[in-house]
Amino acid sequence: MKNTFRQYYIVTLLLLTFPFFGTLTAQNTSANTSNTIEKKIDSILSLLTLEEKVAMCHAQSKFSTKGVERLGIPELWMSDGPHGVRAEISWDSWDYAGWTNDSITAFPALTCLAASFNPDLSAKFGKSIGEEALYREKDVLLGPGVNIYRTPLNGRNFEYLGEDPFLASKMVVPYIKGVQKNNVAACVKHFALNNQEHWRSTINVEASDRALHEIYLPAFKAAVQDAGVWAVMGAYNKFRGQYTTHHELLTKTILKGDWAYDGVVISDWSSTHDTMEAALNGLDLEMGTGTDGLGTTTANHYDYYYLASPFLKALKNGDINASVVDDKVKRILRLMLRTTLKSNRGFGNINTKAHHNVARRVAQEGIVLLKNENNFFPIEDKEGLTIAVIGENATRSMTAGGGSSELKPQFEISPLEGMKQRYKNAKIIHAMGYHTGPSVYDNIIPSTLNQDSLRLQAIETAKKADIVLYVGGLNKSHLQDCEGDDRQSYELPYNQEAFISELKAVNPNLGMLLVTGNAVATPWLPKVDGLIQTWYLGSMAGHAIADVVSGDVNPSGKLPFSFAKKLEDNGAHFYGESSYPGDGTDQHYKEDILVGYRWFDTKKITPRYAFGYGLSYTNFSLSDITTRSNKLKRDGSITVSCKVTNNGSIDGAEVVQVYVGKKKSKVKRALKELKGFNKVHVTSGASKTVSIDIPVSTLAFYNEDTSDWEIEKGDYIIYVGNASNNISKQIKISVK
Ligand code: GLC
Repeated sequence: MKNTFRQYYIVTLLLLTFPFFGTLTAQNTSANTSNTIEKKIDSILSLLTLEEKVAMCHAQSKFSTKGVERLGIPELWMSDGPHGVRAEISWDSWDYAGWTNDSITAFPALTCLAASFNPDLSAKFGKSIGEEALYREKDVLLGPGVNIYRTPLNGRNFEYLGEDPFLASKMVVPYIKGVQKNNVAACVKHFALNNQEHWRSTINVEASDRALHEIYLPAFKAAVQDAGVWAVMGAYNKFRGQYTTHHELLTKTILKGDWAYDGVVISDWSSTHDTMEAALNGLDLEMGTGTDGLGTTTANHYDYYYLASPFLKALKNGDINASVVDDKVKRILRLMLRTTLKSNRGFGNINTKAHHNVARRVAQEGIVLLKNENNFFPIEDKEGLTIAVIGENATRSMTAGGGSSELKPQFEISPLEGMKQRYKNAKIIHAMGYHTGPSVYDNIIPSTLNQDSLRLQAIETAKKADIVLYVGGLNKSHLQDCEGDDRQSYELPYNQEAFISELKAVNPNLGMLLVTGNAVATPWLPKVDGLIQTWYLGSMAGHAIADVVSGDVNPSGKLPFSFAKKLEDNGAHFYGESSYPGDGTDQHYKEDILVGYRWFDTKKITPRYAFGYGLSYTNFSLSDITTRSNKLKRDGSITVSCKVTNNGSIDGAEVVQVYVGKKKSKVKRALKELKGFNKVHVTSGASKTVSIDIPVSTLAFYNEDTSDWEIEKGDYIIYVGNASNNISKQIKISVK
C-alpha cells in the first residue's frame, strides 16, 4: 500500500515543484545529482509553512515522523537494529504490533563481524541487511553501533565492534556503504561516549580531549567522512555536563562543523532534554520523548516534544531564528531524497538464501578458536561416537531479548540443532544442565524449577558420552548481554564454574562453546581441552557452529577485545568506582587513551587472551617482513609486506596485524596501536605475500594544547604479527 502512495507522492511532488524536472538528462553526474538534490530541497523548503517545518523535526509515533501530505512529502520510517530488521512495533507503545509478515534474517551480532577482521564480509553484511530493511519499507535502519568496548560489563558490547578504534573504523565503513546502497539510511550510534548501560540516561562522562579524539570518536568520524553515513544517533549520557544528543562540542562543533556532516542527527529514544539546546546544538529529529516525565505516552503528547510546540513558540517570538529550523528541515529533506523520495528505489528482498549464506559466512569467519589441546577440535563425525551437547545455551534463543536489537527471525538454528543436522554418523545426545526461566528477564536460577534433577540428568548424560561439548556463557537477559543495564560480575552466572567441574569429573573429554558478547572470567579454563568463542550468531548460529566444530570450516576469527584474567586488570576498573560505573552523577575515564590492549601492553598486565588473538586448525608462519622505506616524509606511507605460509594440512586464513608505537615521545603513548591489518586465505602448504599500507598521517596524536592532530618527528616501531601479543618482527622507521 505504502509503495503505491509513495509513487503518487513522488509524481505529485516532482511535477508540482520542479517544472524544469523534465529537462534532467540521464547523463547526470554525481555532482549534478547532488546539485539537483540541493535545488529540490530549496524548492520544497520555500513551500513549507513554519508549522509544517516544525512537525517534521519530531516523532508522530514510536518510529515515524510526519511528512507534509498536501505537498506529497511522505512520512519517514525507522527501525532497529544493527543485526536485523526488528519486528514491527505499535504506533504509540513499545508493544509489538503482532504482524505475521515481519520475520527476517537474524545476522550475527557486530562483535562477531568485528572478529572476522574481514571488511569485504562487512560490505556483504550491510548490503544484505539493507535489502531486508528496504523490503520492510524502512527509510532509516537504526544501526550500526560503534561505541568502544571499555568495560567487559557493558550490557551492549555485543552490539558494537570491540575495543580498538582502528578496527571499528575499518569494519563500520563497508557496512554503512552496503546498507545505503539500498537507498536506506544507516544510523551510526550512539554519539558519543555511551560505553556502559548502567545509569545510561543520566551519567556524566568526563574524558580527556585525547581519549575523545583518539579512542571514542574515530569510528564515528570514519562513518561520516569515509562512509558518508546519512544519519547519526545521539546518546543518552552527558559529556562534560551536557547531554550528548544536543551537545555544543560534539554535535555542533565537531560533527556538523569540523566533519562537515550533511545528514540528520536523530535523538535516542527520550534522550532529548532541552528545546534551546536541541534547536541550537544540532539535533534535527527528536524521537521517543516521554513528555509526561514518566516515559509513557499520553494523548497528543507529541505536541509537547521539545522540538514541537515549545520550538514553534520560540521561532514565532523570535527567540530562535528561522534559519535554525530551515537547516533541520533541509537535512531531513536530504535524507528523504536519498531514501523514501529516491526514484527507482527498488523493493529489496528478505529471508533469501543469499542472506542466510551471508549470515553463515560472517558467523564462520567471526568464531574464534581460543584453546585446542589434545586436538579436541575438530570433532569427527564417526560411527559409534557419542557426543553429549550440554547446557541451556545449546537450545536457548539468543535473538530474543538483549533490548532494542532483539529480533523475530524466520528461523534460528540452535547449536544443538546445528550439531544434530551435521552429525549423521555420531550420536548426539543432550541435557540442559540448568534452566534460567522462560522470561528473558530472569537472571538467577528460579528455585521453583527442579534444578537438581536437571543437573544430575546432565551429569548422567555426560557419563554416557565419548565427548562432552558444554555450551555455556551468558545470554540476552537483563543484567547480562542486554541493553538498559550492565552485568554485575565478571564471572559466568548460574553456577557454571561448579557445573563445568562436575562435567569434567565424570568425563575428561570436555570442550566448551562460549556464547557471549563480552569477556568473562575463566577460572574453569584448565577443565576444558577446547574452547571456542561463538558470539551471538543469529539465524544460522547452529550451522556455523557445527561447520567449525566438525572441521568443515577452519576458524579464522580474532578477538576484537581483550579477555582480562580478572575484572580489575581492565583499565576501566583499575581506578575504582569513580571510573566505573561512576558515582551516580559523574564518571571519569581515568585510563584515558589506554583502553583495552593499550592498557595491558603499557602496564605489562598479561590478559587471559589478547586482542587480535585466535587459533586455527592449521598453523601459519609470518616471514620476509619488510617495509619499503625506513625514512618517511609526513605525507608518505609505510608499506609493510609479509609472507604468510600455511604449514599445516588444512586450508585456512590468517590476519596479519600491523601495530605502531613510539618509544620516545613528548606525550604519553600506548606501547603500540593497531594501524593496519589484512586477512589472507592460504591453502595448505602454500604461501602468500600481503602488503599493508599505513599513511604516516595515521600516526598523528591529538595535541590538547593546539586542539589539533600532530605528527611527531622521530623514530617509530612497526610491530607485525598475528595477535597483539604475538609479534613476529619489529622494524624501526623514522619520520622526518
Ligand atoms: C533504544 C536504544 C537505541 C534504539 C532506540 C529505539 O533505547 O538506545 O539504540 O535504536 O532506543 O529502539
